[in-house]
Amino acid sequence: MIRHGRYTKGAIVYKETQHFIAKLYHSMNPPQSIANVLLPWFDQHGRKDLPWQHDRTPYRVWVSEIMLQQTQVGTVIPFYQRFMAALPRIEDLATAPEDSVLHLWTGLGYYARARNLHRCAKTVCDQLGGVFPSDLAALQALPGIGRSTAGAIISLAMNRRAPILDGNVKRVLARYHAVEGWPGHRVVSDVLWDFAEHHTPLARVADYTQAIMDLGATCCTRSRPACDTCPLSAGCVAASSGRQSEFPGRKPPKDTPTRERWMAVITRNPSEVLLQKRPTSGIWGGLWAPPEFADESAARNWIAKSLGIPARDCFAGTPFQHTFTHFKLEAYPVRVHCAANQTLSTTVQFDVEDLQWFSLHPAPAVGLPAPIVRLLARLGTEEKERSD
Ligand code: ADE
Repeated sequence: MIRHGRYTKGAIVYKETQHFIAKLYHSMNPPQSIANVLLPWFDQHGRKDLPWQHDRTPYRVWVSEIMLQQTQVGTVIPFYQRFMAALPRIEDLATAPEDSVLHLWTGLGYYARARNLHRCAKTVCDQLGGVFPSDLAALQALPGIGRSTAGAIISLAMNRRAPILDGNVKRVLARYHAVEGWPGHRVVSDVLWDFAEHHTPLARVADYTQAIMDLGATCCTRSRPACDTCPLSAGCVAASSGRQSEFPGRKPPKDTPTRERWMAVITRNPSEVLLQKRPTSGIWGGLWAPPEFADESAARNWIAKSLGIPARDCFAGTPFQHTFTHFKLEAYPVRVHCAANQTLSTTVQFDVEDLQWFSLHPAPAVGLPAPIVRLLARLGTEEKERSD
C-alpha cells in the first residue's frame, strides 16, 4: 500500500475525483464573486492604517509581505518600522551588509526570509534597475517570492488584478466552499487557487485583497470564528452546516525528530562571549551563535584545543530547546569562563575569521537566533552578578 503521510494512494485518488467533480460543477454554475459583499464590509471594518498601507510602493509592500509570511501583524509592526527607518529604499537594502539585515530581522525568526530578501534586493538593483517587475512570472522568478506574495505585490502596490492565497485566505475560501483536505496537498491548493482567481475582481483589487486578508484575520479566525458578524456567512457552506472547525483540513501528523547538540559557550572577562558566524546554508544560516558540536566530548576537546583550558574546567550550562519545522533542537551548553587576556589558539578547527568575541552589554548588533538572544541575556545577567 502506498502512503503519503496518513493518506493512502486510494484516498488521494478519491479526493482528486471529488475535487474534479466540484470543479466541473462550479464551471457550470459559477459562484458569484464574494467581492460584492466583501468590499462594502471592508469600507466599514477593514484595516486602513497599517504602516505598509501608507506610501504603498512595491518595495514597502514586498518587505511587509515577507515579514507577514509566518508572523502576526502585531509582532511585525515594530520590526517593519525599524527596518524601513534603517533601509527606506531598495538600494539601501541591496547595499547593506548581511549582518545588518539579519540584525534588523533578529526576533522575527525564519531567517531564510531575510537572506532571500537581501538577495532579491541585490538582483532587482543589479539586473532590473531597482524596479520590481509588474508581471507574475517575473516576480516569482525572484528569490523568496512565491505565487501569493507576487499576487500581493501586484494587487496591493500596483492595483492590478492578481489573486493571492496566504494562510488567512486559504481558511476563508476553504470554509466558504467547504474544500476538503489539507491545503499543503497540491490537489487541494489547486482548487483553492481556482477559487481565489475566480473571486478576485477587476476593480478595487487592492481593497479586495486587503479585505479578504482582514476577514481571515479578524472574523474567519482559526478558532471560534465570528460567523454572526461575517459578511460571507449566508453563502458559506461550512457555516451553514456548522462545520467551520473542519476547514481547512489539518496537516497529517508526522513525528518530529529530536537533534541533540552541544554548544561551547565561552565567556571572557569582563563581559564578552565567543560567537561563530554560521555558514549561509543550513539552520540559522548567516547568524551568530556559539560553536556547535555533535557530542559533549567534541565540545570539551575543542575548548581545550582552542583555549588551552583543560576539559575539567568546563561546566554544564542550562539546556534549552527550540522547535524548527522539521525537528526539535535540544541544546546543551558546555560553559567555560576565561580571563580578560584569553586568546584563541590559531589551530582551532573552525576558520578563525568566523569566530569573534562580542560584548554582552549591549547585545551584539548582528543576526542572532531567538534562543541565542535569550542565552546571551542570561549570560549577561550572570556576568553582572559575578562582577557585583
Ligand atoms: N498578511 C499578509 N499581508 C497582509 C497585509 N497586507 N495586511 C495584513 N495582514 C497581512
